[in-house]
Amino acid sequence: MSSQLSTLLSEQRRFPPTPEFAEGAHATQALYDEAVRDRLAFWAEQARTLTWIHPWQSVLEWTAPHARWFSGGQLNVAANCVDRHLSGARRNKAAIIWEGEPGDRRVYTYWELGQEVGRCASALKGLGVQKGDRVAIYLPMIPEAAIAMLACARIGAVHSVVFGGFSAEALRDRINDAECTVLITADGGYRRGSVLPLKRFADEALTDCPSIRHVVVVRRRPGGEGDEAFATMREGRDHWWHRLLEQAAPTCPAEPMDAEDMLFILYTSGTTGKPKGIVHTTGGYLTHVAATTKYVFDLKDEDVFWCTADIGWVTGHSYVVYGPLANGATVMMYEGAPDWPERDRFWKICARYGVTVLYTAPTAIRAFMKWGPEHPARHDLSQLRLLGSVGEPINPEAWIWYREHIGGNRCPIVDTWWQTETGGIMITPLPGVVTTKPGSATIPFPGISAKLVDVHGTVLEKGGGFLVLTEPWPGMLRTIYGDDARYRETYWSRFPGRYFAGDGAKVDDDGYWWILGRVDDVLNVAGHRIGTMEVESALVDHPAVAEAAVVGKAHDLKGQAIAAFVTLKDGHAATAEMRDDLKEHVAKKIGAIARPDDIFFSADLPKTRSGKIMRRLLRDIAEGRALGDTTTLADPGVVARLREMYEAEES
Ligand code: PRX
Repeated sequence: MSSQLSTLLSEQRRFPPTPEFAEGAHATQALYDEAVRDRLAFWAEQARTLTWIHPWQSVLEWTAPHARWFSGGQLNVAANCVDRHLSGARRNKAAIIWEGEPGDRRVYTYWELGQEVGRCASALKGLGVQKGDRVAIYLPMIPEAAIAMLACARIGAVHSVVFGGFSAEALRDRINDAECTVLITADGGYRRGSVLPLKRFADEALTDCPSIRHVVVVRRRPGGEGDEAFATMREGRDHWWHRLLEQAAPTCPAEPMDAEDMLFILYTSGTTGKPKGIVHTTGGYLTHVAATTKYVFDLKDEDVFWCTADIGWVTGHSYVVYGPLANGATVMMYEGAPDWPERDRFWKICARYGVTVLYTAPTAIRAFMKWGPEHPARHDLSQLRLLGSVGEPINPEAWIWYREHIGGNRCPIVDTWWQTETGGIMITPLPGVVTTKPGSATIPFPGISAKLVDVHGTVLEKGGGFLVLTEPWPGMLRTIYGDDARYRETYWSRFPGRYFAGDGAKVDDDGYWWILGRVDDVLNVAGHRIGTMEVESALVDHPAVAEAAVVGKAHDLKGQAIAAFVTLKDGHAATAEMRDDLKEHVAKKIGAIARPDDIFFSADLPKTRSGKIMRRLLRDIAEGRALGDTTTLADPGVVARLREMYEAEES
């Protein structure tokens, strides 16, 4: 049994909801009961909280593996996230409170947000963007990122947000896969005191993006317009955001969208070298994220909700932008690093703006733990009333630390399991209703059907196995952009008729879920999903590399770190410079998040007789464990040689 699993199994602490929290909470036991009685009626009731232009005819049409939710219905996502809040008291309420890393601040009321979204939508239309066109967004965490997404939604364009930490090549591949016609970027973004030159990366990407007709550039740096070092503007193609919006009308009609029209594409890593364009649509997605935001985060009008995820990940889409704004909430947004200029930056922000609900990742919590409780202790965190966790399994120790040092032993914690593909939260406690256990995501959200199965697909009541989803849900991905065959194959073929999430899990005697992590060749590095094949392709792209195998290695802070085993071509020496060069090469091909922690040079890699690399053995080696079964190896001597080398390098 893995040490992780045995720690989880011995976890006995229980945290029942306090009566005070339960009394004021949105969620009640009745919500679960209702969903059990009639799942579709439950989701229809959630959908009715949105504003529809035309009512739907059927809640769900399911021809496995393709779902249509709220078919026949029409709505506009931007109208739901902005316009409908403009007629009442929320008109002057802060929609987005933003702080830049250097300390600059901006607040947008719902009214102001509406004006900016309107202008951006008009400007995009002016550039010829039409319903269904794809727009790439490559921005730092600045309000313009949310404004650009909502502007696309307003005119029916499909956005494809690319995380600002991805490289020029990664951006290029994503733009080309979706044939985006417009790119929205910035001259730069601040990270740990320096400027990430996004426009320069974008220009590098655009040397080979034939579909791009226009580039809109946000001026993030003060006085940056004339600064050639950060943004060289190409006449006719490139436009400054502020100039374009200045001339654009603040009103722009919201396009009536069919519930099943595409809202966005978001690329995520899988088990092949090519990222998948996950397709999300309009009515079901918004229903799912609006309902989960309301009940999981117990969002009230007076809350300040801070989801710390970058807009480039699904968490940023669903719980920085669409879910909270559909609920008319106040969203906190921060541009930079948690340890800049000091390790108390997050707590300073919480205190300054009176953040009430904080949603962050275990990797961040583990870093806070390491930095010490004196940093949060210096600030008044008494406004916090609820804490959330997402992105990777949270170890009970980090959970307890979070509860004590951030939540003052009073805030409930919601550990939420979901994925880019699921669109919204799937397994989570509802605060005020469900007793929590440190390290467990607890039970499925009402209306969600999760089951545990063994390798043959047989449903298990409890124990260890694979997590599958047995019924369609409103926020589910509809396909992989341009590759429906891959959609069927990736998610629906392993256990036919059921969605396979790729995660291993355990269900305990109380029916609580303990997510153990990916069982496929997908790594979770500091909450970021990276495919081993992507890193391997980047490595073999280097002229000196003959072969590469990449595995995840347990890491205290990041959860997993990347370890690569590399065979060099004849004539290339395994030097320290070569190691640095290869790390740099991967960072350049994919982005700094994929830079390997360790590179081990080896004359051969352990393979089965059929030529398959035995990653399990490599993981054992990288983590310094006793070796598993080596009887299927073509050349058992390879492992011994590798291990010797690894140990020599480690010492
Ligand atoms: O392995 C699970 C892990 O993150 C994967 C999904 O990654 P991504 O699509 O990038 O979305 C991350 C944010 C939703 C899952 O397959 N994961 C996510 N949340 C949790 C988790 N693992 C354990 N506990 C969680 N709460």
